[in-house]
Amino acid sequence: RILILDFGSQYTQLIARRVREAGVYCELHPFDMDAQAIRDFAPSGVILSGGPQSVHEEETPRADPLVLDLGVPVLGICYGLQTMTAQLGGDVVPATHREYGYAQVRARGHSQLLRDIEDHTSPEGYGLLDVWMSHGDRVESLPPGFHVIAETDNAPLAGIADEERRFYGVQFHPEVTHTRQGQRIIERFVHDICGCGRLWTASNIIEDSIARVREQVGSDRVLLGLSGGVDSSVVAALLHRAIGDQLTCVFVDNGLLRLGEGDQVMSTFARHMGVNVIRVDAEDRFLGRLKGVSDPEQKRKIIGNTFIEVFDDEASKLQDVNWLAQGTIYPDVIESAGAKTGKAKVIKSHHNVGGLPEEMNLQLVEPLRELFKDEVRKIGIELGLPSEMVYRHPFPGPGLGVRILGEVQKDFAKTLRLADHIFIEELRRADLYEQVSQAFAVFLPVRSVGVVGDNRLYAHVIALRAVETIDFMTARWAHLPYDFLDLVCRRIANEVEGVSRVVYDITGKPPGTIEWE
Ligand code: XMP
Repeated sequence: RILILDFGSQYTQLIARRVREAGVYCELHPFDMDAQAIRDFAPSGVILSGGPQSVHEEETPRADPLVLDLGVPVLGICYGLQTMTAQLGGDVVPATHREYGYAQVRARGHSQLLRDIEDHTSPEGYGLLDVWMSHGDRVESLPPGFHVIAETDNAPLAGIADEERRFYGVQFHPEVTHTRQGQRIIERFVHDICGCGRLWTASNIIEDSIARVREQVGSDRVLLGLSGGVDSSVVAALLHRAIGDQLTCVFVDNGLLRLGEGDQVMSTFARHMGVNVIRVDAEDRFLGRLKGVSDPEQKRKIIGNTFIEVFDDEASKLQDVNWLAQGTIYPDVIESAGAKTGKAKVIKSHHNVGGLPEEMNLQLVEPLRELFKDEVRKIGIELGLPSEMVYRHPFPGPGLGVRILGEVQKDFAKTLRLADHIFIEELRRADLYEQVSQAFAVFLPVRSVGVVGDNRLYAHVIALRAVETIDFMTARWAHLPYDFLDLVCRRIANEVEGVSRVVYDITGKPPGTIEWE
């Protein structure tokens, strides 16, 4: 397994995902992980990530010297290369030209790391790689034992190696997709140089998780809040396989779900897989609480609190439950670890609706804690979940509650559900669903004038939103074909009562958020 030490680069998680994609288990830890913890982890190789700092600043982050003494291969990326250089006795200086974005590096000298990996060949016979650079400092002189393995005009030491100790450093980012051969470079390091096999596969992950869950909970009963989202669905399928009837799921229908969603969840889990699912119809309770409330934050709070209440009520009816299962995934773990130590930049994350009923005294079982979203999806498929469920766009915990602007009313929800369903159905039909990251309809409680046949109509507005994004922190509105939008608009106007107008949202994030509330 591979240890990744995080110096705070925005790309660190990508390194971990690439290593996992290569079928190798890895963990990401803060750069100052202490020596004993490193020894206990017993890595087969270490990757030092990039980071925002300059090695010149005072108090620059350093890896524990043990990392360079373990006798295992080390790969330093960007800042990782610079700190390795400085820690081993080389020099790093501020570059005269900062380099950001595309660059072409020439592979030079022979190296295990880059051998036979190239995008082009130069007239002189050097391998050329198209890479993504982002750095301000550069290596000026090499530590003893190192030689140059890659260069650009601007950074004569863009890649360095000490083959004897199996230490490698690259100034560019192999983990980002703009570096076209990036995955091969990562694979070369973890497979060939560190000697790790491709053992981290969907079926191994499942087997391993099942064994661990069984050991953890024994013959106890486990409770899971099933939302129908990807993470809780995969937890349900996994726990069902691990402990069968010891698992009870509670599915709360809050009246703010998409068309047919409740029935789908019941059919997939209860009917087809034989999972114990208690469906709670709490529409009236939710809508009752939301009556007269139009402030978005207050709506979110009410929905969250009501969810906990309902869940709590149901849970307290169950006898001898000792465990609460949650669909926490690895990015949540990394982010909250960052929040605790204040090291990695903390990125605001939305809380899922729901929480641990405090007085219940349940222990947590979180079988997806080590997995990235793409791994969760892979094991979901392997566990037999339908791919429409596993590859579904994200849906916010407060559901349609934040897509009906202002006060939530039952008939607004009904209108929105039908319009949203048409939009999604047409996206799937046109093979556009998977090309956008998230798409949905929004109900605007304003009226506009329209005409149907000979009659004047004075009805509400539906806005359609579709975005493309990698991380949901920024997004671009999806440039859907006009003909497609035309079709969706016609269908909504013809088939959904109470809608006089359909508009398409062309706001990016920023300045807009993805949701309207
Ligand atoms: P925004 O609207 O902040 O959304 O650009 C970014 C992503 O987060 C989802 N989202 C939520 N998810 N509870 C959730 O579980 C929430 O309250 C919530 N609000 C927004 C949103 O759908 C998008 O994917």
